[in-house]
Amino acid sequence: MDKKLHIDLQRVPKHVAIIMDGNGRWAKGKGMSRVFGHRNALTAVRESVKAASQINIEAITLYAFSTENWNRPKLEVDALMRLLINSLKKELPDFQKNGVKVNAIGDIESLPKKAQNVLNDVIFQTKANTEITLSFALSYGSREEIVNAIKKISKKVVNKELDLEKIDENTINNHLYTFNLPNVDLMIRTSGEQRISNFLLWQMAYAELYFTDILWPDFRQEHFYDAVIEYQNRERRFGKTSEQLTE
Ligand code: FPP
Repeated sequence: MDKKLHIDLQRVPKHVAIIMDGNGRWAKGKGMSRVFGHRNALTAVRESVKAASQINIEAITLYAFSTENWNRPKLEVDALMRLLINSLKKELPDFQKNGVKVNAIGDIESLPKKAQNVLNDVIFQTKANTEITLSFALSYGSREEIVNAIKKISKKVVNKELDLEKIDENTINNHLYTFNLPNVDLMIRTSGEQRISNFLLWQMAYAELYFTDILWPDFRQEHFYDAVIEYQNRERRFGKTSEQLTE
């Protein structure tokens, strides 16, 4: 059965955010190291981007490395950074072929120089692509992002470039790492954990949350479409009543 046929292409989420969880448990279940799990996570990344692109989703954001992930064993952190560098290089031709515009959100300057260079190069080379925007959240924490936005806004107020009374939700949006992305409509988290874990807190204010027991390395297009179908079956009210929505 082609699950895509069950999707209403007029009502797809504009922006899907994914917490790719369960790599370690997947590997452990196979008697392997955690890093083996991360290496086997790439098929799921590719499948998700392909699935999203095929139904004209505008943006997909992947939680690849959180600010808290720096606390993992050095060997694992190093392996994740190497994996990032090698995967970006390897996937570049496919990004170009498929019109994928790569973006990064987070405290990018805290990444190793080599990772920053490869990332910036891929962002530069794909900047004219228009099929889908693929953002990697790297050294990302939502609270850190909000603190950072407040600092930038405050500086403008102090320098009299911005009137305090004029600060509104758009001002905040425009100073977040996601300033050029739509709000998140759907958040998917794999591996059975039901938490947001400091991911896009502001941007997910009205997002539908979808949790699945599938471990990230096993996640495929059909699972992505299951989440979109579930999203379309939910009623998004944005604070209104059901009656108001049908009027
Ligand atoms: C969560 O699984 C996953 C991560 C912390 C890292 C995500 C990284 C990838 C998917 C690698 C590929 C990414 C890019 C951008 C090339 P976990 O290790 O927390 O799993 P566990 O909860 O089972 O221990």
